[in-house]
Amino acid sequence: MLNFLYKYFLRKILFLLNPETAHKVVESFLYLIPNKLFNIFFKYNFSKDTSTVIFGNNVPSPVGIAAGLDKDYKSTPKYLSLGFGFSVVGTTMINPRKGNPKPRLIREKSKGELVNALSFPSDGSYKILNRLKNYPSPRERIIISVSGTSEEEIIENLLLFQDFCFAVEINISSPNTTDLKKFVNHNSIRSILKKSRKVTNLPIFIKLPRLLEIEYYDELIKATQEFDQVGVVLCNTLPVTDSRLSVGNGGRSGKSLFDSTLSILKYVRKSFPEITILCSGGISSPDQAKMLLESGANALQIYTALIYEGPGIIKEINDSLSY
Ligand SMILES: Cc1cc2nc3c(=O)[nH]c(=O)nc-3n(C[C@H](O)[C@H](O)[C@H](O)COP(=O)(O)O)c2cc1C
Repeated sequence: MLNFLYKYFLRKILFLLNPETAHKVVESFLYLIPNKLFNIFFKYNFSKDTSTVIFGNNVPSPVGIAAGLDKDYKSTPKYLSLGFGFSVVGTTMINPRKGNPKPRLIREKSKGELVNALSFPSDGSYKILNRLKNYPSPRERIIISVSGTSEEEIIENLLLFQDFCFAVEINISSPNTTDLKKFVNHNSIRSILKKSRKVTNLPIFIKLPRLLEIEYYDELIKATQEFDQVGVVLCNTLPVTDSRLSVGNGGRSGKSLFDSTLSILKYVRKSFPEITILCSGGISSPDQAKMLLESGANALQIYTALIYEGPGIIKEINDSLSY
């Protein structure tokens, strides 16, 4: 029903708008509609079969919302009601940011993909923190994605959220924020984690980029495994050049990423049998979700498929996992 409504009615209307406006419209609706009213129509009843443990924390489904969809903690409570097991809020920097000039988000309808060069437009960590304080979601279903321009800023940022989430995701892999590339090496990863572990035991995920040389994951991930309760998110968007974007380059997400997500997962799982892995990139069907979980992913994150397939996608995946 939800699928039908979305694909034959709502999506047609939303796709008449430019992608950022469509996002704002949906986000405002989800922010303003009271939870109780939303739940009467859309609440998903989880089966026990889909519950999953991530770093000792129980989530009702292994499929969550990927970072970037709810940058400012405005729609997460509704996504959790729809059947997502957890939501990654952010990426947030401490200070509010405008992001890159527009155009910075392109819909590629025929491919089921998006190309974005947003570069973290957000209300900033303190506003998000206030929203979390006033409208809390269960801590055990929230991951906060943080970043920063220096190691110290990243640590300061993650500490702000430690009472509101079961884990933080450190984003060092957005292709749209040039400053981040300096953290993609084993010394920086080790240094960030060492500093973090001096001040918090909160589980941490490092969100890694799609690397050209697959062997380089060994070096990066080895550094993460010197610390307790550290996992990885594989992976962020695919860096591309695109003259339709004001800045000329961005990150591709959606269907075509799935094969690379699966091969990176298989490679990393073989080298690191014990590590906690969350997979992100191109997941758009129950079969693909199953394939990743059976290939060793501990949990999954979805963004672009929600835009193209609609909210019914999570019910389909959950239902298929509970048999
Ligand atoms: C418009 C847009 C904004 C995004 N913003 C973020 C972000 O702020 N932080 C982050 O770690 N990833 C961000 N991502 C990447 C997603 O979290 C995800 O890793 C990627 O889109 C691949 O998954 P998908 O194919 O299911 O969309 C963004 C993706 C899109 C499409």
